[in-house]
Amino acid sequence: MLWTIFLLLKGLLILILIYCSRTRQKNEPPLDKGFLPWLGHALEFGKDAAKFLGRMKEKHGDIFTVRVAGHYVTVLLDPNSFDNVLNDTVCFDFSHIKTQLLKRIFRLQLPNVKPTSERKWIKKHFQGLSLFKFSSCMNTHLQNLLLSNHKGCGPSEWRQDGLFSLCYSLLFRAGYLTLFERRDNTAEVYKEFRKFDDLLTKLARCSLKREEMKAANSSRERLWELLSPGCLSGGSQENSWQQSYHRFLQEEGIDAEMQKRAALLQLWTTQCNAGPAAFWLLGFLLTHPEAMEAVKSEIRGLSALQDTSLQHPLISLLEAHSTPVFDSVLSETLRLTAAVMINREVVQDKILRLANGQEYHLRRGDRVCLFPFLSPQMDPQIHQEPQIFKYDRFLNEDMTVKDKFYKDGKMLKYGTMPWGAGRNSCVGKEFAVTTIKQFVFLLLTHLDLEMCNPEAKLTSVNPSRYGFGMLQPDGDLQVRYRLKRTQHEM
Ligand code: HEM
Repeated sequence: MLWTIFLLLKGLLILILIYCSRTRQKNEPPLDKGFLPWLGHALEFGKDAAKFLGRMKEKHGDIFTVRVAGHYVTVLLDPNSFDNVLNDTVCFDFSHIKTQLLKRIFRLQLPNVKPTSERKWIKKHFQGLSLFKFSSCMNTHLQNLLLSNHKGCGPSEWRQDGLFSLCYSLLFRAGYLTLFERRDNTAEVYKEFRKFDDLLTKLARCSLKREEMKAANSSRERLWELLSPGCLSGGSQENSWQQSYHRFLQEEGIDAEMQKRAALLQLWTTQCNAGPAAFWLLGFLLTHPEAMEAVKSEIRGLSALQDTSLQHPLISLLEAHSTPVFDSVLSETLRLTAAVMINREVVQDKILRLANGQEYHLRRGDRVCLFPFLSPQMDPQIHQEPQIFKYDRFLNEDMTVKDKFYKDGKMLKYGTMPWGAGRNSCVGKEFAVTTIKQFVFLLLTHLDLEMCNPEAKLTSVNPSRYGFGMLQPDGDLQVRYRLKRTQHEM
């Protein structure tokens, strides 16, 4: 009897697998389901998406469909064809994927908030006069934090720290003081935020272990509390960015609980990228002396900057001068370490036409994923020796910005794509660039900064963070630093 039941169940399972199993139809991209039923390639994808997708690109070319945890995902790696996905908002939708992620990571639901009105609201605050005010405020906080870091130290005394932790903590705290205007809980918010951020990729993939889940829940709740309007109103001004955000959500019919949770989303969106970007940039400079010398020489050439003391508005001086070498270093840093994944749901059957004229049928209910990190950013046909940091890759011989890149003889619209593209691209780009620039210039003009071990190599990437914006290192790079006696020593 038992044996018969077992055989029946086995037969049923085989029938289900055959029935549910998908085969490639004419006109569809190559299909790679992986060996594991339902899971498909999920484990390899989550462990190191760049390595996995690189392997699939070798095997199948610029377009293929993989099975990942029950979803069929068509990966498109031809930058000349990206616009055909990004510009079609009828067949490709982001709102459902976004809603799922907000719920999973931030326990947040914003049912009535239209993405376009939210984006419009945020954009307003990161341009024109508001942008200038934010950037000046950021500059003041960075200077104060830099000086307070040295309180209690003798003038020529060295301090030691990991470069990642130094950059993340200074930029996070200055960013929090600027945007959230709350002074008395900065250190605690930063500490909790780092715990939460460390678990975020696993939260998004639902792969937390029991203990990690507890830690993530407790950090999230503590952060909600620390950022809550009641808590914030103590220190922040009536017309601050945060107060205005709460008013916006209120007008959109969002209740107080969700408003509180939304503040954590804003904290993460605005603070998770600049610190890691500054780390990689300074890390590349410290491990590439010729690049460091080129940047320092450019700074020395900014005559007005020579006389800056910490009291001067660095921001105005930087705005008035072009800095092509620094700009190239930043572009090259982001090419190597910014790894956003642009996902869309196919909500209507679609014939996707690629730039080379080939057409593919995409099925409704599947997903499409663009991963600009692999192409254009790390594509050897576009950028020679893409693994190598070349500080002048984005410089023409006449020291103008190099922004024309080609693949198969065709000029690309996107040579790199660190800020995303289309309707969800980064609205804080200008603020982020100014912030990173002020930060690096401040550090180089006011600190002696060197690696503890002059032979050290730049730390490798934490592979689980592909797809979540700026990459983070697996460990840290130990540095020592002290305040310069004068800036002319540089
Ligand atoms: C190097 C630094 C940064 C990088 C590389 C970066 C990159 C990105 C990317 C790729 C996206 C799109 C995400 C997606 O499509 O899923 C994004 C969105 C966003 N970024 Fe940034 N970002 C940086 C810094 C900042 C800063 C400093 C701010 C503000 C203070 C900011 C504000 C935002 C906002 C508000 C969005 C959401 C836009 C929307 O939903 O429409 N970013 N960022």
